[in-house]
Amino acid sequence: MTEDQWTVIGIATAWSGTVGVLGLLLGWMLRHRSLRYLPAGVALVAVLAVVAGVVGTARAMFLSSHDYTVVLSVSLVAGVLALVFSMAVGHTVVRSSRSLREDARRFGESGRFVAARRGPAEFQQLSAELARTSERLNESRARELVLEESRRELVAWVSHDLRTPLAGLRAMTEALEDGLAEDPDRYHTQMRAEVDRMVGMVDDLFELSQIHAGVLSLTLQTVAVGDLISETIAAADPVARARQVRLGGAVDQGVLVRADPAQLSRVVGNLVMNAIRHTPPGGTVDILGRSLPEATELNVSDGCGGIPETDLDRVFDVAWRGNHARTPDSGSDSGSGAGLGLAIVKGIVEAHGGTVGLESEPGVGTTFMLRIPIAH
Ligand SMILES: Nc1ncnc2c1ncn2[C@@H]1O[C@H](COP(=O)(O)OP(=O)(O)OP(=O)(O)O)[C@@H](O)[C@H]1O
Ligand SMILES: [Mg+2]
Repeated sequence: MTEDQWTVIGIATAWSGTVGVLGLLLGWMLRHRSLRYLPAGVALVAVLAVVAGVVGTARAMFLSSHDYTVVLSVSLVAGVLALVFSMAVGHTVVRSSRSLREDARRFGESGRFVAARRGPAEFQQLSAELARTSERLNESRARELVLEESRRELVAWVSHDLRTPLAGLRAMTEALEDGLAEDPDRYHTQMRAEVDRMVGMVDDLFELSQIHAGVLSLTLQTVAVGDLISETIAAADPVARARQVRLGGAVDQGVLVRADPAQLSRVVGNLVMNAIRHTPPGGTVDILGRSLPEATELNVSDGCGGIPETDLDRVFDVAWRGNHARTPDSGSDSGSGAGLGLAIVKGIVEAHGGTVGLESEPGVGTTFMLRIPIAH
């Protein structure tokens, strides 16, 4: 390159550079302003940098005054066009951002966001992201609603279940007080049974609140599943006999499980009591234990005739009970409880890192399956 050319490049750099620096300064000053001005600013700086370069190097280029005017006019026209174009771009960007803001505002009000496929790619991505957030929010809101509903049901049913025996107790104590009771011994037995039932219910509530608060403390020990099953059968046998349900148990040799013995026997006890309650006279309830490669499995199967498919998802819900158990006065015959048993089962098994599931065979019965992992 000749020396002249180097001179031209130097002068142009100085002039255009000065405009560029001024443009940067202006951009910095306007950085909090609307996006609308940004493309216009960029176009303006670009054109002015060219014009400044031309003005600065005019003498070094030996431009005639005619050519000089031509170059400046061309630059001016290009500048005006660039400005118009950039303002149009700025306007489109601002409009897209405004419509996105409008969508976001509606999202805030209605909780539902509909992704709009318009505007620049970044806005579309933002819009899609907001739509996903809205979906997640709605899912968690729905879960919250279900929980809230089940909490309300729990309070309603528990207060109902406590009110009924309490009213009975009051009537019986009044009768005893007034000496009107014909058979005081029967009253005493019945009162004792009611009190036991209420104590059981309050214990269940306490247990459940501990599970939900995550403060259930487990004292893990190695438990022989055979012993656990025999103890459960021994405890449930009187109820089973009274209902003419046959209770059976089978376990492979030497099956062990690492668990809190008291909590695990509560779990199996709840399952067995449910099974006995729902099995008609003459039916059978079986408890089976076996070792799997990764877990210890405990199955409780009954002859209840199966749980309706629509109920399968709900049996572990707090305060949920089958329809037949929802009649107001079925409480006193021990045929139904507060609907806490299976929620407690699930909570305790999960606190052990295990899982509980069920299989229902229509017309035959239901099998509840517990799996507690073998601790490594
Ligand atoms: N083995 C079973 N066979 C058929 N239905 C069952 C069985 N176990 C539970 N269910 C159904 O699931 C519901 C919920 O059971 P859960 O043990 O949680 O409550 P509950 O037995 O009614 O009351 P609680 O256990 O608090 O005394 C029952 O009301 C019943 O309808
Ligand atoms: Mg139960």
